Amino acid sequence: MIALKENHEKIKWVVSITTILFMGSLIFFSIKIISEIKEREITAIKRYANFLQYISSNKESPDYYIDEIIIDNNNIPVIITDENYNIIDHKNIIYSDNESKKSQILNKTLSSMKNGYEPIEVLIYDSNNVIVNKQFVFYKNSEILDLIILTPYYLSLFILIILISIYLIFYYSNASEKDRLWTGLAKETAHQLGTPLSSLIAWKEYIKSKNILNDKNIIVEIEKDLERLKIITDRFSNIGSKPIIKEEELKNLINNSIKYLKKRVSKNILFIIQGENILHSVNKELFSWVIENLFKNSIDAIGESGKIKIILHKKSNKILIDFIDNGNGIKNSNFRKIFDPGFTTKKRGWGLGLTLVHRIITNYHNGKIFVLKSIKNVETIIRIEFKL
Ligand SMILES: Nc1ncnc2c1ncn2[C@@H]1O[C@H](COP(=O)(O)OP(=O)(O)O)[C@@H](O)[C@H]1O
Ligand SMILES: [Mg+2]
Repeated sequence: MIALKENHEKIKWVVSITTILFMGSLIFFSIKIISEIKEREITAIKRYANFLQYISSNKESPDYYIDEIIIDNNNIPVIITDENYNIIDHKNIIYSDNESKKSQILNKTLSSMKNGYEPIEVLIYDSNNVIVNKQFVFYKNSEILDLIILTPYYLSLFILIILISIYLIFYYSNASEKDRLWTGLAKETAHQLGTPLSSLIAWKEYIKSKNILNDKNIIVEIEKDLERLKIITDRFSNIGSKPIIKEEELKNLINNSIKYLKKRVSKNILFIIQGENILHSVNKELFSWVIENLFKNSIDAIGESGKIKIILHKKSNKILIDFIDNGNGIKNSNFRKIFDPGFTTKKRGWGLGLTLVHRIITNYHNGKIFVLKSIKNVETIIRIEFKL
C-alpha cells in the first residue's frame, strides 16, 4: 500500500517535470522561430528601403518586379511617407474601395506603425550626390508573424487547461469512488452484524427469563458485550449514512471512553482530562470512535507506562481538543501521511484508524484534525478543531 502510494508520488513528479520541460522547450523554440522570422522581415524591409533609395537617386527605369518580389512575398505592410509624414505610397495594406475610408485606414495604420518599429530613412541624392529629398519607410509585422507570436501562449494555455481538467477528473472520480467504498463497506458491515446481534439479544433474554445460568455475573458480562456490539453496529451504520448530530457534553463523552479503555490497558498508563465541559453538536457514536482510535494510538506509542492527557479549551470561536501523550512520537515528515489509508509503522497495523478519524472529523463534523507537534518521548499533540 505504501509502496503503491510512493510510486504514485513519483509518477506525479515525473509527469509534472516532463510537462514543464515540454512547455518550456515549446516556448523556447517558438521564440527562436519568431525572432528568426522577425529578423527576416526587417532585412526585407531594409532591402526594400535600399532599393527605393537606389531607384529614386538613379533616374533609370527600375525593374518593376524587384519591388514585388522583395516585399509582396513577405506580406509585410509598408507605408512610405515624405519627410513630413505625408503618405506617398503603401504596400500590403488591406483597405476598402471607398476612398474616404481608405485614407482613414491608411492614417490609422501609419499611427500604429509609428508606435512600433523605427522607420527606415531613405535619402535621395541628385546626380551630384547632394541630398535632395528624404522619405520614411514605416512597417509592421506581417499578419502571419502576428499570429505566430501568439502561438506559444495559446499552446501553453491549451496544455495547461488539458492538464488541469485531467487532474480534476482523476481527483473527483477517485474521491467519489473512495466515498462509495467507505459508505458501502460500512453499511454492509452494519447490516451483517445486525442479524446475529438481534438474535443474540433474544437469546440473552431467554436465558435470563429461564434462570438457566446460576452465576448472575455471567449475564451481566454478556449484557455488557452485547451493549458493546450494539455500539459497534451503530458506528458502522452511522458512517454509512448521514449521521444525526446532536448537542453533547464533550468532556462526558471522552470520560466514558476513558472508563471503557482504562480497564483494558496497563495500570501504569495515566489518563488525565483537563478543561471545561464544552457543549458541541456531534454524533455521539462517531465522536467516541474518534476518541477511542486516538487513545489506542497513544497507548501503542507509549507501551507499558506513560501519560495521556486531554485538554479541552475554547479559543477565538474555535473548540480545541488536544490529545497529548509522551510516547515514541511521529516524524515531522509523517505529520500528514499518518492520515493516509494504509499508512502504518506497526507490525500488525492496518493504517485505517486515523483515516477513519479524519473522515469523521472533516466530512461529518466540518472540523479539522492534525498533528500540532511531536517530540519523541516528551510530547506528541494531535489537535481536533471545531468551529463554534
Ligand atoms: N499518538 C501517536 N504517537 C505516535 N505515532 C502515532 C500516533 N498516532 C498515530 N501514529 C502513527 O500513525 C500511524 C497510523 O495510525 P492509524 O491510522 O491509527 O493506523 P495503525 O494504528 O493501524 O497503525 C501509526 O502506525 C503510527 O505510526
Ligand atoms: Mg490506530
